[in-house]
Amino acid sequence: GTADKLSVLGTAYSTDGWTNTTSAILQKTGRGLLHQASHPLAILKELIFQQFPDYAYYDSLSPVVTTQQNFDSLGFSNDHPGRAKSDTYYINRDTLLRTHTSAHQLQLLKAGSSGDRELLAQARNSHAAPGNERFLVAADVYRRDEIDASHYPVFHQMEGVCTFERREVNEQLRQTGTAGQTTTFSDSNPLQADHNAAEATYLAEHMKHTMNSMVAGILARAGGGQEGFPVRWIDGSFPFTSPSWEMEVLFRGEWLEICGCGITKQSIMRNAGMPQRIGWAFGFGLERLAMLLFGVPDIRLFWSHDPRFAAQFSSGKISTFKAFSRHPSCTKDVSFWIPHAAPFHENDLMDLLRETAGDLIEGTQLIDSFTHPTSGRTSRCYRITYCSMDRNVTNDEINAIQDRVRAAMVAQLGVTLR
Ligand code: PHE
Repeated sequence: GTADKLSVLGTAYSTDGWTNTTSAILQKTGRGLLHQASHPLAILKELIFQQFPDYAYYDSLSPVVTTQQNFDSLGFSNDHPGRAKSDTYYINRDTLLRTHTSAHQLQLLKAGSSGDRELLAQARNSHAAPGNERFLVAADVYRRDEIDASHYPVFHQMEGVCTFERREVNEQLRQTGTAGQTTTFSDSNPLQADHNAAEATYLAEHMKHTMNSMVAGILARAGGGQEGFPVRWIDGSFPFTSPSWEMEVLFRGEWLEICGCGITKQSIMRNAGMPQRIGWAFGFGLERLAMLLFGVPDIRLFWSHDPRFAAQFSSGKISTFKAFSRHPSCTKDVSFWIPHAAPFHENDLMDLLRETAGDLIEGTQLIDSFTHPTSGRTSRCYRITYCSMDRNVTNDEINAIQDRVRAAMVAQLGVTLR
């Protein structure tokens, strides 16, 4: 960033060498798609909230968080790749746009144990879990990424956290035993040293049961006659849960990765001031599910301002999107030599494209890459597909944008055009 202040949602932040959040991204922070009652993402959010009547819900937490919240509080190591500037939108070295809703886990658990009224008051349905014993967080999250029909640098996640009084769990286990429970642990997906196998198994079974019912409850509304929704649990790995899993669901013949989840690290419970409680957490993306449920073929449509998109949906209902006429697309190639001195990160090019052409870019494709045998220089060629979701774009307009893209590549990425 060149300015020394960056304003995000009305608050000014100082910038530094870490600042890499573009104005194209900043514009998205104010869209509030989860608060437009008849937007598919908001409809899905409410549908999920309804499946959790005894949870508190948060859906208005600011996307600006500290590196402490997003990474350190969750046990991310200092050299974890998720912290890289090439993957994350930084406001400055200590402040970023959250990359996942897990960024709020510790803060919300703490609010529960310390009785932080201000934060607790931001919950809906708070009477169901007045101490944040169980809560959901729905929010926009930001990740630097490639451009295609299913990737967008802003998307939405739903976090679920459920905690129990450890003494009560163990008391219940003494009475009922663990018969019929199937969770297993392994060296690569271990039981935490802080937990006994019976209580961790209890948590895992409770979590899986909760998620099975939620997914079945939602997919059943998608129609199409499918009745059961087979689920499988693949071992996963997150710094803040152990053991961890990815949940996959068989839907219309395909295994879909729905979400990450696991048993909350006891260090988080201790840091939250509730060492006497144990719990589990899940987090999943809303877009993929919404695209399936509402038949939306391109993730950019969620961000469309075209009234023909918005008018098709209404609050509380799952209806199938009817495509409006597709506008013609056009492709432009750009070939260049990568600079010798600086590293080239593909995501820097992606952000430059979004900044220069916004949502007119449908996708990019690396169509050629070679290293010159004698000079050692590397050349790349990208094919850019331009297509508007909601209007006709003239050839002249695209040519002018492509010229700006080329000029910006030279100025900002230091490449040499061919
Ligand atoms: N935050 C994780 C992600 O974005 C998902 C997750 C949430 C995993 C909670 C475990 C527990 O990938």
